[in-house]
Amino acid sequence: MTDQHAADLDPANQDPDVASRHLAHKALEANDPTGWFEELYSAAADGRAVVPWDRGMAHPLLADWISTAQPDGTGKRALIVGAGTGWDAELIADLGYDTIAFDISPTAVEAAQQAHPGSKAHYQVADLLNPPADWHRAFDLVIEIFTVQALPIALQPTATRQVAEQVRAGGTLIVIAAAREDNVPDDAVEGPPWPLTRAAIDAFAKDDLRLIQLDQAPSPSDPTHYRWRAEYLRD
Ligand SMILES: C[S@@+](CC[C@H](N)C(=O)[O-])C[C@H]1O[C@@H](n2cnc3c(N)ncnc32)[C@H](O)[C@@H]1O
Repeated sequence: MTDQHAADLDPANQDPDVASRHLAHKALEANDPTGWFEELYSAAADGRAVVPWDRGMAHPLLADWISTAQPDGTGKRALIVGAGTGWDAELIADLGYDTIAFDISPTAVEAAQQAHPGSKAHYQVADLLNPPADWHRAFDLVIEIFTVQALPIALQPTATRQVAEQVRAGGTLIVIAAAREDNVPDDAVEGPPWPLTRAAIDAFAKDDLRLIQLDQAPSPSDPTHYRWRAEYLRD
């Protein structure tokens, strides 16, 4: 690691968002748009960085959906996309769902397992852009929070399709994402993240997967930014 690279990561030097964006830009220049996640999580594991999205609790918009919908996971399967350190997965597994929580970063998977000893969720490494074939339409509940928007806009259509394709007939998809106005062009967004337009939210609804509820709420951490919470049902 170069001295500059170490300085980029040093939590004392940087706002965590700025530091992770530096890593992302370097990975994008090297044509490795997902390589920086492992780099960030492994730096965080030995105290050289902070994972900016690690909330230490499930996302409040997911918790709110659960308290309203009161889903019963008994005998059902759930998939948590880009599960990070696992707080959302824990909430879902505690509802009785047989839960797979996956992430592209092996260190994130280890961190989730260590943070939740005795967890009912199954944490594993997998790539959303090339998921295991036996996940196809196999889940009653799929939770996607902030993963698609963490990928460059050119990769988002594939990521969106893969999220949607894991929902079985009769199953539900919940998407929580940063919101972008439709009139903000792609090249004006300097991600990550690359927030999702309304058209990008609509793009999850393909074939017999229907958008049944869409809400916009201020971000709990920054009320000047908005979050989508979208619920889809596969007929
Ligand atoms: C912005 S973080 C959000 C993490 C978590 N969902 C949350 O809300 O706290 C994006 C996560 O997606 C993971 N990720 C990125 N690309 C992925 C891919 N292609 N397949 C699986 N996970 C991916 C990253 O490692 C990271 O943990």
